[in-house]
Amino acid sequence: MTSHHHWPVAIVGSGNIGTDLMMKVLRSDGPLTMGAMVGIDADSDGLARAKRMGVPTTATGIDGLLAMPEFADIKLVFDATSASAHRANWAKLVGTDVRALDLTPAAVGPYCVPVVNLDDHLDAPNLNMVTCGGQATVPIVAAVGQVGFVSYAEIVSSIASKSAGPGTRANIDEFTETTSAALCAVGGAARARAVMILNPADPPIMMRNTVYCLVDGDADHDAIEQSVEEMVGRVRAYVPGYRLKQRVQFETFTAESPLFIPETGKFAGTRVTALLEVTGAADYLPAFAGNLDIMTAAAITTAERIALHAKRTAGAPA
Ligand SMILES: NC(=O)c1ccc[n+]([C@@H]2O[C@H](COP(=O)([O-])OP(=O)(O)OC[C@H]3O[C@@H](n4cnc5c(N)ncnc54)[C@H](O)[C@@H]3O)[C@@H](O)[C@H]2O)c1
Repeated sequence: MTSHHHWPVAIVGSGNIGTDLMMKVLRSDGPLTMGAMVGIDADSDGLARAKRMGVPTTATGIDGLLAMPEFADIKLVFDATSASAHRANWAKLVGTDVRALDLTPAAVGPYCVPVVNLDDHLDAPNLNMVTCGGQATVPIVAAVGQVGFVSYAEIVSSIASKSAGPGTRANIDEFTETTSAALCAVGGAARARAVMILNPADPPIMMRNTVYCLVDGDADHDAIEQSVEEMVGRVRAYVPGYRLKQRVQFETFTAESPLFIPETGKFAGTRVTALLEVTGAADYLPAFAGNLDIMTAAAITTAERIALHAKRTAGAPA
C-alpha cells in the first residue's frame, strides 16, 4: 500500500526530457513520487542518475516496467520516448489501470495545455502534452483569442541542437502536425502552422518562440497586450524563466491596403507578434534548455492536478 500523501509515477524514456522530468519529481514536495525510471539503454545517463538517486530502474522498456514489483503501485506513466515508441508502449498499458501522460507528439489522447484547459480531460486515460513549442505558444494564441478572432496563427520555435535528443529529431514532422493542430483545438485559431528550428550555435541559444496571430477586423490592441501579459504571468507560475523578450507588436492592414495570404486572399485586420524567451531551471541540462522545462513543468502541473482529482474521486462517498 502507498501512503495517502504519495502518488507513485513511472517515467519511460531516460533521455533529455525524461531525465529533466525525473529531477523535477524528485525535487517536488509531492504528491508525485518516483516509482520507476524505464529505459532501453542500460548505459544511459538518465538510468545511471536514477540508480544513484535510489529510484528503481529497468533497462528493458515497457515490458521491464510491467514485470517490476513496483508496478503494482504506479498510478501514472509519463512517456518521454518518441511518438512511435509511445504508441507501442500505450498498446501494452491500455489493459492496465494505469494512466498515461504523453510528452511525445504522438497525440493518442486529447491535448492538455495547463493554463488553457487543465480541467477539461482529467479522466482521460491517455492525455497528451503537445510539444515544447505548443506549451510555449498555445497560451499566447488563446490570450489573443480572448480579445479577437484569430483567423491564422503561425509559430516558430528555436531550440539549441544540444537539447534535442534522438527522440526529438525523429519527431520533427509530428512536432509540426501536433503543434499546429493544438494551436487550433486549444488555442482557438481557425488555421495554424508551426515551424521548429534546431540551432547549432555554440554557446547554445536559449529557447525562443515567435508567435504571429492575424486578428480579423478592428482589434483592441491595448486589450490584446494586457491579455497576453496576463497569460505570460500565468505560465511563469510554473516556468519562472518564461518571458516576453520585447513588448507585443501590432501591425494594421486596412481594406484599402490589405495583407495578401496565398491560401485565403486579402486580409484586413491586425498582425500581432509576440517574441518569447524561455530560460530553463537547469534541473538537468543548463539553463539554455528552457524547451525541456516548458514541457516537463507543464507535465508535472498536469499530473499533480490529476492526482488531486483521482484522490477526490476515490474518496467521494458512494
Ligand atoms: N527535447 C525537447 O526539447 C523536447 C521537448 C518537448 C517534447 N519532446 C519530445 O520528447 C520525446 C523525447 O525527446 P528527447 O529530446 O528527450 O529525446 P532523447 O532521445 O534524449 O530521449 C528519448 C529516450 O527514450 C529512450 N527510448 C526510446 N525508445 C524507448 C522505448 N521503447 N522504451 C523505453 N525507452 C525508450 C531512449 O533510449 C532515450 O533515452 C520526443 O518525442 C520529443 O519530441 C522533446
